[in-house]
Amino acid sequence: GDSVAPKDVSWSWEGPFGTFDRAALQRGFQVYKEVCAACHSLKYVKYRNLGDAGGPGFSEAEVKAIAAGYQITDGPNDEGDMFERPGLPKDAFKSPFENEQLAKLANGGALPPDLSLMTKARDGGADYLYSLLTGYEDAPAGFEVGPGLNYNVYFPGHQIAMAQPIYEDSVSYADGTPATVEQMSKDVTAFLHWAAEPKLEARKQTGFMVMTFLVILAGLLYFTQRKIWSDQH
Ligand code: HEM
Repeated sequence: GDSVAPKDVSWSWEGPFGTFDRAALQRGFQVYKEVCAACHSLKYVKYRNLGDAGGPGFSEAEVKAIAAGYQITDGPNDEGDMFERPGLPKDAFKSPFENEQLAKLANGGALPPDLSLMTKARDGGADYLYSLLTGYEDAPAGFEVGPGLNYNVYFPGHQIAMAQPIYEDSVSYADGTPATVEQMSKDVTAFLHWAAEPKLEARKQTGFMVMTFLVILAGLLYFTQRKIWSDQH
């Protein structure tokens, strides 16, 4: 199709020893929460995951406070009624719309996809997501952008229903990091990559242990065979 190769970003999790940058994941959560969550669900992530090893590393108290900031619909209770209660760590991230029809209605007929697996779902992964967020430009002369659509260099076909979501200072970072479009795009992409692959760090550690084990085993086998086949028994 009509797609442009994404920017080649250098990510902290790349390479055999790559890990997530906790501060970047926490900032990325802030961007998701304050910007993306207005339209996009993240329904496969639970609040308690924000405190899991290999993730953003929020404390138990922070996770509880984050969850409690949402009103979750629960029930039915003994009277048969649904009710609202503050969120708990066990709850999934609250979705902005009750169903796909309402999500489309609020977005001019276009569906904002769930972002839980987005960096796995698109060719180019995290590089594509970052490029998309930083890829809004004026359409080149002669390019007709359809009604309700926006020109984006990296979206296949270049016409996307999502308006540019991130602008300079869209959020005010708690840690004082300057909130440039590039910084927020990088942070939210890292956060969404963690959401899509929460076991990435554990997977890399296992790979390292397997390789170490194989090297030691190879050494033992080498010396064993030399001893077995040597002339002096
Ligand atoms: C589509 C990310 C904010 C509405 C998308 C897609 C991604 C994405 C990855 C899919 C693109 C593709 O299909 O390849 C984000 C992120 C946001 C954000 C990371 C926050 C930084 C928003 C907001 C709105 C919105 C605030 C609503 C005001 C939509 C819509 C689509 C979409 C309607 C479907 C576009 C289409 O299919 O043409 N977004 N988004 N997004 N987003 Fe967002």
